[in-house]
Amino acid sequence: MAGSNFLQFPADFLWGVATSAYQIEGAWNEDGKGPSIWDTFSHQPGRIANNENGDVAADHYHRWAEDVQLMAEMGLKAYRFSIAWTRVIPDGKGPVNQTGLDFYDRLVDALLRRGIQPIPTLFHYDLPQALQDQGGWPNRATADRFAEYAEVVGRRLGDRVTWWITHNEPQVSAMAGYLRGDHAPGIKDMRAAQAAAHHLLLSHGKAVEALLTVVRLDAHVGITLNLTPVYPASDSEEDRNAASRMDAAINGAFLEPVFRGRYPSLLLENAPALADYIRPGDMEIISAPIDFLGVNYYTRYVAKHDPSEPLLRCTQVFPPDSEYSSMWEIYPPGLYDLLRRVWEEYLPKTIFITENGVPVPDGQDFDGKVRDSRRIRYLRDHLIQVHRAIKDSIPIVGYLVWSLMDNFEWAYGYGMRFGLVYIPYPRLDRVIKESGHWYSRVIRQNGFNPIEPIP
Ligand code: GCO
Repeated sequence: MAGSNFLQFPADFLWGVATSAYQIEGAWNEDGKGPSIWDTFSHQPGRIANNENGDVAADHYHRWAEDVQLMAEMGLKAYRFSIAWTRVIPDGKGPVNQTGLDFYDRLVDALLRRGIQPIPTLFHYDLPQALQDQGGWPNRATADRFAEYAEVVGRRLGDRVTWWITHNEPQVSAMAGYLRGDHAPGIKDMRAAQAAAHHLLLSHGKAVEALLTVVRLDAHVGITLNLTPVYPASDSEEDRNAASRMDAAINGAFLEPVFRGRYPSLLLENAPALADYIRPGDMEIISAPIDFLGVNYYTRYVAKHDPSEPLLRCTQVFPPDSEYSSMWEIYPPGLYDLLRRVWEEYLPKTIFITENGVPVPDGQDFDGKVRDSRRIRYLRDHLIQVHRAIKDSIPIVGYLVWSLMDNFEWAYGYGMRFGLVYIPYPRLDRVIKESGHWYSRVIRQNGFNPIEPIP
């Protein structure tokens, strides 16, 4: 096991996995749950590959006990999931659906009984449709509704849960949902996207304040940001400036407000309408101190100056000699560069890698096994970078693989498989992949030998 090459992780390192409600739960309209914008969006023809939807998904809502048992067998230390706002408050505001809260209460207790840290994300894209009908995230009042919801959940689970994530990837919620339109609610409006981004961040600050009034004193409260290190395509000043503009738009637009209470000046120059939504006191609320930064890392962005691109005069280039998955360039050093930059520039109390993973077109072999060696290689190569950062004294508390099981990958439907556990859709059996067994060994050993052959 341990040897000169062995990469040992800190004693209490939180090894785990991540999922989200809409992607795995199903039961989209059961037990009092109200419709979310993803229920509406995925029911609209043409929005999702093969017109698939999350009505059933992995049926985790009914199979949660089996799934927790599976996590225990895999030796997981932490499980990040999201809470469906409309299961708890069907209309986004007003009456609480106790049956919905009961579901998460049982899940938390089952996890704790098995020594698995529950890490709820309060918002993972699934805004109540009733709130979207009143304007959604571009409506500033939604931030207050979110804080009310956070308090309801915090009051019920706050005596046991010690890790809280307010938002998952507000950048994706705002830009994919209100600018690109390929996520729910499918709107393509720059001003709406900027308003949404600001109100999502405002709701984060308000939720931090609300949670701290009802959760345990030893609880950790944070936010998860999707962060993508940006590299200039060449050393030319044009490409370096394009990279700076893109970095401000996709990273600084969230890191700066959360940690410094301001938006990057480069962003305000390129997105002037954003200032219209900022009111006195907002930035102080948004930059409420947090206990950790959740980092979702998948890939990098190589930026080239492009005067024809209207928003940022920047386009992404794809190095021909890189390896690619079905969705992105595979670039493990980008994770180290990102962790170092975040640590040096923002000094978060601690960093939690809350998502890292790769889609692989998995299938079962003749013996029923899923031999996903590409995923093992991806995880190993990224964990080498995590270990490198830890050796540089960057405080990283844990690492969560996206994802526990194959699930609904938004506009891609079920075609992109990210799980450590295989699901032979439309059958809903659970089959631990070779990567899941590999990850269990890593957890048991609290590390791994990077030159060990991959099965
Ligand atoms: C996101 C999410 C997950 C995705 C995962 C793979 O980044 O959109 O947090 O819901 O499924 O990142 O794309």
